[in-house]
Amino acid sequence: MSQAVHTIQLAGTDQSFPCAENDTLLRAALRNGIAFPYECNVGSCGNCKFELLEGVMASCWPEAPGLSDKDRARNRGLGCQSRPTGPLQIKLRTSDKYAPQFPPVRTPAKLIASRVITHDLSEFTFQTEAPMPFLSGQYALIQMDGIAGPRAYSMSNVGLFSGESQGGNLIEVQVRRVPGGQGSAHLFDHLKPGDSVEIDGPYGMAYLRENIERDILCIAGGSGLAPMISIARGTFSSPRMAGRKLSFFYGARAIQDVCGLDMLTTLPQWQERGTYQAVVSGANAEDSLPEGYLRGFVHDAVAQTFGDRLQQMEIYFAGPAMMGQSLLKTLIDLKVPMDQVHFDQFY
Ligand SMILES: Cc1cc2nc3c(=O)[nH]c(=O)nc-3n(C[C@H](O)[C@H](O)[C@H](O)COP(=O)(O)OP(=O)(O)OC[C@H]3O[C@@H](n4cnc5c(N)ncnc54)[C@H](O)[C@@H]3O)c2cc1C
Ligand code: FES
Repeated sequence: MSQAVHTIQLAGTDQSFPCAENDTLLRAALRNGIAFPYECNVGSCGNCKFELLEGVMASCWPEAPGLSDKDRARNRGLGCQSRPTGPLQIKLRTSDKYAPQFPPVRTPAKLIASRVITHDLSEFTFQTEAPMPFLSGQYALIQMDGIAGPRAYSMSNVGLFSGESQGGNLIEVQVRRVPGGQGSAHLFDHLKPGDSVEIDGPYGMAYLRENIERDILCIAGGSGLAPMISIARGTFSSPRMAGRKLSFFYGARAIQDVCGLDMLTTLPQWQERGTYQAVVSGANAEDSLPEGYLRGFVHDAVAQTFGDRLQQMEIYFAGPAMMGQSLLKTLIDLKVPMDQVHFDQFY
């Protein structure tokens, strides 16, 4: 059934965009090239807040944690959760850095394969009906039948390179089974090859910067493997990045969680240009670790390995919020310029 489409006017500007009733303001804005600030796209970070000046809207998730009671009292909404029920006028400060490289597309997709990576991490491959061009490191939203709200998952396959515009139809994600989590349980336990989902993407700003000459550091923790694998795959396949070195750190709680190396060693020139370091935080002092593994937290291991040399690296990271916060503090303490650091916080 076709949905009514409403005009969203940005107050004090000549910018407006169409938004269907079954879309959100944030995603419709990005589909129309409007640089609406955001990060998580799932109602948690609060970066997509705006103020409603005129009109009536609905919320996909009224209790979303990204909005406080004070925000609600001030007529603020979350762009990623707000749907129009008529024309709206909103107050929003756009920022060029959020302008999409590829406008997000919503497309039906079918699960075509899955494979186990570790005891709680698996890879799922989807074939999309419409091509979905993306850059290495970006993520997409997957809407599954019977699950309230889409889930954000980063692509692990390689994205497009500069100058390319023809996207493919394969989307590969690597998902950790979250105890009690509804979306991950659906993917692991219910979705079978041939089953359909809706995929909406790409989103995210932590994509591979091909034009920057610095060597690369990728730091992944837990479920943050996928976007870092995509960044590494992009680095080793981009003709513009030949010769660039890449260090890959994987932070795990236990030895059985360590993964990723098998996906890297098959990359062309990995032996000459790539290094991999596993860091295990939860092992007891008396437990012996496999040769080459480090003990401790991944942010400490990165600081001890590189120190001031981090200031000359282009740094990408993904993983749990605690890891991200510790890592950011370490990088700030070591005076790494923040425009060299790229991440989308996982929620
Ligand atoms: C940018 C980004 C990239 C990510 N990439 C990955 C990845 O590559 N691999 C991976 O394993 N995980 C990734 N995650 C985490 C992933 O999106 C899920 O949060 C995680 O898998 C837990 O989901 P769940 O459904 O199992 O748990 P649940 O506890 O059922 O759901 C948690 C998530 O669902 C949203 N949610 C819950 N209820 C509602 C509702 N009623 N309406 C709307 N939304 C709701 C929450 O915001 C939260 O994101 C990423 C998250 C973000 C923000
Ligand atoms: S709350 Fe909307 S982008 Fe995070």
